[in-house]
Amino acid sequence: MNPNKALWEKGDFTRIAGTMRESGEALVAQLGISKGMKVMDLGCGDGTTALPEARLGADVLGVDIARNLVEAGNQRAREAGLANLRFQEGDASKLEGIADASFDLVVSIFGAMFAPRPFDVAREMVRVTRPGGRIVMGNWIPGDPTLVAQILKISAAYSPPPPEGFVSPMLWGVEKDVTERFGAAGIAKENIAFLRDTYIFRFPVAPADAVDAFRLYYGPTMNAFEAAEKNGKADDLRRELVELFARQNTSPDPGHTDVPATFLRVTVTR
Ligand SMILES: C[S@@+](CC[C@H](N)C(=O)[O-])C[C@H]1O[C@@H](n2cnc3c(N)ncnc32)[C@H](O)[C@@H]1O
Repeated sequence: MNPNKALWEKGDFTRIAGTMRESGEALVAQLGISKGMKVMDLGCGDGTTALPEARLGADVLGVDIARNLVEAGNQRAREAGLANLRFQEGDASKLEGIADASFDLVVSIFGAMFAPRPFDVAREMVRVTRPGGRIVMGNWIPGDPTLVAQILKISAAYSPPPPEGFVSPMLWGVEKDVTERFGAAGIAKENIAFLRDTYIFRFPVAPADAVDAFRLYYGPTMNAFEAAEKNGKADDLRRELVELFARQNTSPDPGHTDVPATFLRVTVTR
């Protein structure tokens, strides 16, 4: 079994994605999408950004490695009556069956960053984008003080060291690495723009319950809890995460947890 696929098919990412819809829609509104544009949403999950892209009239293909998320995306597209949106399984490291230069815009929000072999990922994204088209990535930033980087940092302290040769997905949040990867795919550095942006997670529950949602449904956090349980440290991990969520919560309502998280927005012009 492909461990990258197994990680994301684990649990149910749709339960986390539900807290990210508003920011996904706000981001898509800034991408200059117009009717008939050909868009690939890569690492699309259940379509947080793919649905708003299709609502703007683009012809959208969502590609994701996780079969359950592809099914959930197709169901959301059907329910929304969006005939211009479909989802299929695929791997960002090797986009099999997708012709060169087939998209005006390739969007990957916290998606392709999780695929192995980042140089292959950059090459594949460039390959399927038409000359003059764009690639927009949203990538979490290593060491950033906001939510997702901190969840991953805290979780790493409770997890076994990664296998030898493992390349951290978080390097997609470092401008130098991004420039090097797209450079190897033939993109000049003048054609890569960086912007710090914010995503807001909106949980309709208190901070401790938001942590429990990650523990139950988000593959990377599920793995961290499994490792911590083996060492009798699951309560410590939960306490650290609840403190983090409570500290970063901006909602005045005790039954809500709103947490802003900073990310690196990368725009590449092919
Ligand atoms: C954090 S989720 C983000 C999903 C979605 N873009 C969103 O904003 O809700 C990461 C997504 O990347 C997908 N993914 C991970 N590795 C992948 C790969 N090699 N190829 C394609 N998708 C991948 C996962 O299945 C998951 O849906």
